[in-house]
Amino acid sequence: MLAIIGGRGLTELANLKITHRQVMRTPYGEPSGAFLFGTLNQHEVIFLARHGFGHTIPPHLVNYRANLWALREQGVNNVISIATVGGIRADLTPGTIVVPDQIIDYTHGRDATFYDTRDTSYTNANFTLPYCPELRGRILRSAGIVQQPCMDGGVYAATQGPRLDSIAEINRYERDGADMVGMTGMPETALAMELQLHYATIAVVVNHASGRGDNRQGVNMEQVNATASAAMERVRSILECAVSCDGG
Ligand code: HPA
Repeated sequence: MLAIIGGRGLTELANLKITHRQVMRTPYGEPSGAFLFGTLNQHEVIFLARHGFGHTIPPHLVNYRANLWALREQGVNNVISIATVGGIRADLTPGTIVVPDQIIDYTHGRDATFYDTRDTSYTNANFTLPYCPELRGRILRSAGIVQQPCMDGGVYAATQGPRLDSIAEINRYERDGADMVGMTGMPETALAMELQLHYATIAVVVNHASGRGDNRQGVNMEQVNATASAAMERVRSILECAVSCDGG
């Protein structure tokens, strides 16, 4: 089964025919909100709003472990996550949709592994390719079918937040090879890998990163929200196709 984790601007899926909602519990606490079970384009999916339905949970307080653990408990094997980002690379302008292929972790103090006790059974998750190539391909093919421009690949810098970045920080991320910056990519991506879930992200550029493009003094949140909601319409159409498009 496929799950969709929605971020800013995507706390609900308009065309999801909801069959039921369920509050989940896990050994790691409660997920961000009730899971919505339903069908999208006649395919079963589970939808979860990463920041809660009222967007009340900031990125550093999201219970990423509970979210992914509970999804797996429900039989989920594919997870498409939606995340808003700031564009560092010049061509990643607001409104651009990207499917990243690499990630760098700058977060700290988050519960970043399921192996947090002394236990000989721990494994070193293979994070060489952090995002599932098949699921990435499925998203990109779907975007092609519904004729929504979508960039293939890019490096996501995951920052701690909830504050935005200084220009010097963005310069550093760029030197490190990052193309976009967001606050929720980690530890979500690594935890999905630990649970052997097929995981990929649709990143939506909602602003120029600090010091890039028109962002010299800080972002205009109204503009960010308007860009996010307009782009989410396009993300929805990609998702509707991706649920029915097989992995081949
Ligand atoms: N920086 C960090 N996270 C973000 C940004 C940004 O500019 N835009 C959206 N999420």
